[in-house]
Amino acid sequence: MSRASVSLRSRNGRSMVYRSLLRPILFRLPAETAHHLALNSLSLLKPHFINNLVAKRFTTSPFGKLGRFGLQFSNPVGLAGGFDKDGVALQPLAALGFAFIEAGTVTLHSQPGNPRPRLFRLPLDRALINRAGFNNAGAAAFAQTVARNRPDCILGVSIGKSKITPLENAVDDYLASFDLVHPISDYVAVNVSSPNTPQLRELQQAEQLESLLSALKTRNRELESNRRVPLLVKLSPDLTDEQLTTIADVITRLGIDGIIATNTTTSRSNLQTANKDVLAFGEGGLSGQPLKKASTRMIAKLYKLTRGKVPLIGVGGIFTAADAWEKITAGASLIQVYTGMIYQGPSIARDLNEGLATILEREGIKYFDDAVGIRAEAYN
Ligand SMILES: Cc1cc2nc3c(=O)[nH]c(=O)nc-3n(C[C@H](O)[C@H](O)[C@H](O)COP(=O)(O)O)c2cc1C
Repeated sequence: MSRASVSLRSRNGRSMVYRSLLRPILFRLPAETAHHLALNSLSLLKPHFINNLVAKRFTTSPFGKLGRFGLQFSNPVGLAGGFDKDGVALQPLAALGFAFIEAGTVTLHSQPGNPRPRLFRLPLDRALINRAGFNNAGAAAFAQTVARNRPDCILGVSIGKSKITPLENAVDDYLASFDLVHPISDYVAVNVSSPNTPQLRELQQAEQLESLLSALKTRNRELESNRRVPLLVKLSPDLTDEQLTTIADVITRLGIDGIIATNTTTSRSNLQTANKDVLAFGEGGLSGQPLKKASTRMIAKLYKLTRGKVPLIGVGGIFTAADAWEKITAGASLIQVYTGMIYQGPSIARDLNEGLATILEREGIKYFDDAVGIRAEAYN
């Protein structure tokens, strides 16, 4: 039996245990209750125990170290923003094999988020709808928690606007959060794309985006005497091509370090779930399988607009190594998962890494970076 098929069997075995035993139990609970139960249970386990059980870090990475915006990533797979909003389970999450975790989104002011229920599963579509609304304990509390509990991986921190802050004061609100998280972040992600904070997405308009990002850049330079923190921006999949062109121009002109594409979508097209159920769930961002195509296309667009010079983190509907490969060949040099972790289980980081190593070998590509963007031209 070949090495690839043995590794495929053990990969299927790991996620089968989750899908046939744990997931049915978790999926009987309300989605947010299940999420907190899983996070709390994980945080009770010792990282090295989890590592032995699930991840078994590659002793020598099949990809080598991946240099991105001045940081060295041990593999290309990260956990997306919103999974651990308050940074309460970072060490055990890192032990699952993620090279990086984007914690948060945090806001300057602590806030409860929208009323529950605000997270819904669409199993027929392998999707979620959420309108969490940045529920978090605030940037100051977050920084304290993380200072006591740093993960053994790269830590990105996502910052957003507090709900009580009017849009015209958004820059000061982001700056204050930035000051608080700067000392504990390896990179900072500027979230201007959640659909669940009223008007937030307006900050993607060229003029507003430019004033927000240039203020943060200036502050970063002032604080840089200590340490340089790469600044990334996270975008919505619902932008038009025209908007994307303007945004790419702002990002390249300002020298922003990277782009995270994409956040959730407000679109509800092509769903298998009964329309009456979708309507009953109400407003919110859709993630998972139905988002995959649009986010991959946007990655390819951004890769071409920035001529492959701005590192892209690809996120949206990644469940398998083949999905991750699609994002990478479209132009992503790192990838993240959220919904995939809910449906495939805690071995997803390891499974994606092993699967990507197999694909690289099959394609005869020696260096991971040689795969980035090789199919970008195939997308219109
Ligand atoms: C319940 C939930 C909460 C989320 N919260 C955040 C958040 O706070 N900040 C953020 O940048 N993205 C957030 N996201 C978006 C994800 O990071 C990701 O961009 C999106 O879900 C698409 O990836 P996926 O298809 O792998 O889930 C959230 C997604 C979900 C499902």
